[in-house]
This record gives sequence, structure tokens and C-alpha cells, in this order.
Amino acid sequence: MRERLLAAERLKSIEWQDGRLMLLDQRKLPAEEIWHSYDSAASVADAIRKMVVRGAPAIGISAAYGLLLAARARIAAGGDWQQALEEDFKLLADARPTGVNLFWALRQMRERLERLKLGEDPCTALEAQAVSIHESDREANLAMAQFGVELIRRHQGNPQNLLTHCNTGALATGGFGTALGVIRAAHLDGLVERVYVDETRPWLQGSRLTAWELLGDGVPATLNVDSAAAHLMKSRGISWVIVGADRITANGDVANKIGTYQLAVLAMHHGVRFMVVAPSSTIDMALESGDEIPIEERAGSELLEVNGQRFAADVEAFNPVFDVTPADLIDVIVTEKGVVERPNAAKMTELMNRKRLH
Ligand code: MRU
Repeated sequence: MRERLLAAERLKSIEWQDGRLMLLDQRKLPAEEIWHSYDSAASVADAIRKMVVRGAPAIGISAAYGLLLAARARIAAGGDWQQALEEDFKLLADARPTGVNLFWALRQMRERLERLKLGEDPCTALEAQAVSIHESDREANLAMAQFGVELIRRHQGNPQNLLTHCNTGALATGGFGTALGVIRAAHLDGLVERVYVDETRPWLQGSRLTAWELLGDGVPATLNVDSAAAHLMKSRGISWVIVGADRITANGDVANKIGTYQLAVLAMHHGVRFMVVAPSSTIDMALESGDEIPIEERAGSELLEVNGQRFAADVEAFNPVFDVTPADLIDVIVTEKGVVERPNAAKMTELMNRKRLH
């Protein structure tokens, strides 16, 4: 399966090329494929804030390269570069609040600095660390796809109708995706009849990005408005809702794109299975429950305008871009370390103590 999955990899959104970070501009897709080049922490932080790059794992990978760019500049400037680098850590960490992969990746970079040996070149060490964060995310995608496919195969007659939310594919990760990676692999195994794609208001990650990725792979996909989910579950024989995550807490609560929580409630009512797919870098064991996760709120203009043109009444807008799905609505969390069915605190601790199975 691994070889077939690698052969199916076709799209990338992050490249480390000749000492510069290249990002595919996700704000412009699918109309235009524009790559930008970055050579400073400030510009990378700005790209994360403005969602040139988005999706929790992709944000973490970009931040790691951003920190490397910062170290290069601080060392060239001379003086106490390690002290000066603290500003860059903060700048990058402040770019977005909810996805924990950003903070996880920065912590990996910090720990690598703390392990520097006498005479070791800091930039070489940090570059190797950033590349390893990028590569290990790709590997995690491959492992999760294999676990996820087995769950789908086991569950019901095949092929099946699936429902997904937001974008969790190659654009959001260092490989071919978390939830979308499982869906891609299931399609390769002939297990997928059709994928229903929530458009994912207001930023349209579903209609712009996920639909584009699926069509590029030849996966039968149908777009629906987010509010069609209950009707779809009732009328279209959906067997699984499959989503990614931005942060999973120690009790198994899951923060993901706004609208995920209501999907889980609906899935429970309709007897549809609910799968969350995320690498262990998305698991934040320092937080007891989802109540502690900071939820990003973005500008009301994302709701009130289209292409800078106001269409809404002169009303105030509330635009939280993530929500928290309680663990007891989740059938299974899939990670590269293995799967956790009906997650709770004890099972999450046991998972995090496991060695990787693939
Ligand atoms: O605001 P975004 O587009 O960065 O939100 C992304 C999501 O919510 C994804 O579902 C999540 O990051 C998982 S991506 C592998």
C-alpha cells in the first residue's frame, strides 16, 4: 500500500529550495497557481497569518523553516543571536492561535538548539531539524492512510459514501493529507462510491481546495453547502464523516474547522461513524480538555463581503473559525502511532506512550 500511496502523491504546497521557503498561495486556488518565495521569519509569519499557507501541519512545517531563516539572519548580524532569536520565536508563535502544530514545531526547533554540540553549525542543525519535521509529517500521512483504510474496509459494505469538511489534503500537510489522505487511499482501494465535500464557509476550503484536490485525483466528489449535512446523512447513505484536527487535548476533545462539532452531533443522531485523522504533533497533552483551547476569531469581513464587495446588511458578524468536538461524539481518532476508538483520557495517554507502529 505504501508504494501505491507514494506513487499517487502529486501535489505539494511547501518546498524548501536553495535556502528559501516556497509556498503555494492557497488564497488564490483553484483559479491561479502562484508560488511565493520567503526569506525571513517576518514574511513567513505574515504568510501564516494571511493564510497563504494553512492547515495545522503545513503551518507547523512553514514555521520551522521560518525559524531557520530567522537564525540565519540573526547569526549573520552577530551579537547575542540566541537572545535575538527569541523575538522570531514569538513572532511566529503569534501568527495563529488554535492549531498546536505551530507551537509543536517551534518547540522541536528550540530543543534542537538546546542540544547543539560545541563547534556544531547551528544553521546546519536547524535545517536538518526543519527538513525532518517536514519529512516526518509526510511519513505520518502514509501511516494514517493505512490505518484509516482498514477501519473503512471493516465497517460496512463497499464502496461507501463519505463526508468531509475543510481541507486536509496535500495543501494542508507535508504529504498527501490526513483525513483526505485516508479518503485518497480508500479510493485507491475501491472503497469509495462518492465523497461529499462541505463547502466550509466562510473561507471555502472545501469548494476551492478539497474539491480541486479530489477532482485532480479522479475521486468522485460532490459539493454541498455546510447546512446540507443533516439532509445528506438522512438521504444519501453516508457511512463515515472523516475530518482532520487542529488540536486534540488529553481527554480526546478535538478542535477543528468551524462546523465540525455540528457534524459530530448529526453523525451521532444518524448512526454515521465519525473519524478524526491527525498526526501526534496535533495532540496537546498539556491541555486537559477542549475548553482550554484558544479559538481563533477572524475578521467579520470574511462573512460580510465577497471579493471586497459588501453583500450583507449593516450587521455585526461573529466569525470563530474553529470549534471543539467533545470526545464522546468521536468514534475513532487515527494517528501515525495507531488508532484510538471511543477516545478518553486513559486511551490518549496510552496512545502517546506507544512507539510508532509503521
Ligand atoms: O483555517 P485553516 O484552513 O488553517 O483550518 C484548517 C483545518 O481546520 C483543518 O481541518 C486542520 O488543520 C487539519 S489539516 C490536516
